[in-house]
Amino acid sequence: MNQNKFYVTTPIYYVNDKPHIGHAYTTVLADVLARYHRSLKVPTFFLTGTDEHGQKVEKAAAARGIPPQQHCDETVVRFQQLWEKLGITNDKFIRTTQPEHKAVVREILQELYDRGEIYRAEYTGWYCVGCERFFTEKDLVDGNCPECGRGVSAIQESNYFFRMSKYQDWLIQYIDSHPDFIQPAFRANETLGFLRRELGDLCISRPKARLAWGIELPFDPDYVCYVWFDALINYISAVGYRRNDEEFRRWWPASYHLIGKDILTTHTVYWPTMLKAMNLPLPETIFAHGWWLTGREKMSKTLGNVVDPLAMAEKYGVDAFRYFLLAEMSPGQDASFSEEAFVTRYNSDLANDLGNLLSRVLKMTLRNGGVVPFPGALQPEDEELNTAVLTAVAAMEQALKVMKLDQGLGAVLTAVRAANRYLEKTAPWTLAKKGETERLGTVLYTAAEALRKFAVLLEPVMPEKMATLASALGADGTASRIAELGTAGNVLSGKSVREVGSLFPRVQLEESVAPAPAAAPAPAPAAPAPAATAELITIEDFSKVQLRVARVLTAERIEGADKLLRLTIELGAGEIRQLVAGVAQYYRPEEMVGRSIVVVGNLKPARIRGVDSQGMLLAARSGKELRLITVDGDVAPGATVG
Ligand code: MSP
Repeated sequence: MNQNKFYVTTPIYYVNDKPHIGHAYTTVLADVLARYHRSLKVPTFFLTGTDEHGQKVEKAAAARGIPPQQHCDETVVRFQQLWEKLGITNDKFIRTTQPEHKAVVREILQELYDRGEIYRAEYTGWYCVGCERFFTEKDLVDGNCPECGRGVSAIQESNYFFRMSKYQDWLIQYIDSHPDFIQPAFRANETLGFLRRELGDLCISRPKARLAWGIELPFDPDYVCYVWFDALINYISAVGYRRNDEEFRRWWPASYHLIGKDILTTHTVYWPTMLKAMNLPLPETIFAHGWWLTGREKMSKTLGNVVDPLAMAEKYGVDAFRYFLLAEMSPGQDASFSEEAFVTRYNSDLANDLGNLLSRVLKMTLRNGGVVPFPGALQPEDEELNTAVLTAVAAMEQALKVMKLDQGLGAVLTAVRAANRYLEKTAPWTLAKKGETERLGTVLYTAAEALRKFAVLLEPVMPEKMATLASALGADGTASRIAELGTAGNVLSGKSVREVGSLFPRVQLEESVAPAPAAAPAPAPAAPAPAATAELITIEDFSKVQLRVARVLTAERIEGADKLLRLTIELGAGEIRQLVAGVAQYYRPEEMVGRSIVVVGNLKPARIRGVDSQGMLLAARSGKELRLITVDGDVAPGATVG
């Protein structure tokens, strides 16, 4: 990839669609890539926009009884407002009805016509209104559209054609020799599969008698341009093609065209051959992501399972929504959306791991003067955390290069958890009590600096929250670019921290969207009988006990009960419970928070010293010692043990 500039595009969305999670995903992904590149100091141009011509728009306008342009002007704001709400930092929003775009399309058409790349011929075939595409008899699947499965109409008319077929061999060779051109690689194979069949010429006109809403062909006023031919050109008309050579040379070829997998052929066959005919270089990478599904089903208006991005952002916050989209989908693969998965990820990654880390660091620093201390000599555990953080920086940089943002975010969260464990190990609260000021200073500085770096790494994904995090640490205005993370030196010591409230307050799944409750809990295991036979149990006996991993969210002492702690724990899928545990003499409340423990999940609820307890944690006792049973490595809450 050209490292001197970064030009990223989204598809231009059909203006009459209501924006849904698929649109939001591509646009947030492009935004995050753009922000990361700006953060890496790479000159960046980010383009999105709307596709406003064609039969669908014409029909939608007719149904409303208004002119198509008015319909477009009224509906385009849905996208513009959503992008504003989602914090999208596009450098340009192109609309294909803008005069500048239309003029460039007409010039291209005229030039290709003059050079004989476009010719007129009689056409007979099949047409899919939904896809706005022509098919031959042998393309059809069971008589229906091979792309969407809907019915097609027979069509016979005189039309204009682009000589796409003559570029077939060249394109095959180009794809074969440019492994980065179509990503992921299996999508390149899909295109090559398509190119194994004979490639026809592309019908690029529509007679006005049938469709008037389009760009008029400069060489025949009875026709308008095919919507895809017009739409694809947006990627070059937006950056000065035929208008501003300097600008055009600066940005073209695009670094990434991000698209959904359903528009692969138009982008990897039509577009490259069009560019070739125009003697222009091809985009560096066309990246096709997968689909967001509801459960395992395709989202569709008829099924009523389409996720509204605006509603999600309003309910849970823009940054959390952006984070979920990127952390949950492995680009290239399909991903399943459920509010339950959203709440679980939010609570575990954001509320518990990241939010909790910030609140611990702030609390301890405020209790010790409110200023980030200067570090003393580093000890191995400090170095270990620093290494974990640098590993996350490198992983994120690598993830960006190979478009695996979910893995980059995973690496950052692993480092966040390492920072929480670091606080448990170094126990700054004990250092404070013992008056070990220098060591306390080193620990608080190391943890705060790790947090600052996390904020820089996560800023492109959660810009507002990370700005709040940085300002809580007194780090606003300091080095905030990934490119500077390795060289910034100590920017925090001496800075005053400030309380910012809960960064990610925990959320709970509303009952209306919660999954059906699990079957009634099995009865608690009978108390062991003293007889020798009771020492051996069958596997069935054992399986009655449901052991599960839980994460401790809060812990506090119970007044008047010096052995007990009241814990809130998370058991996965948004399930939160209260537990009373007899561990107060062995663990301080703050030492419990963030741990992954093992609990009996199906114990009959009990009331202990007036406090309800829904389960029991497991611990090993040896003489006067008691140690919690914890889980080795990162295991999600709710996982079964056994
Ligand atoms: N107007 C054309 C694109 C022209 S680009 C020169 C178009 N528009 S669209 O609004 O129908 O679709 C835009 C994008 O949304 C496509 O990339 C499509 O893959 C994507 N998605 C539609 N449903 C989706 C999901 N359920 N999940 C993820 N993306 C999906 O096609």
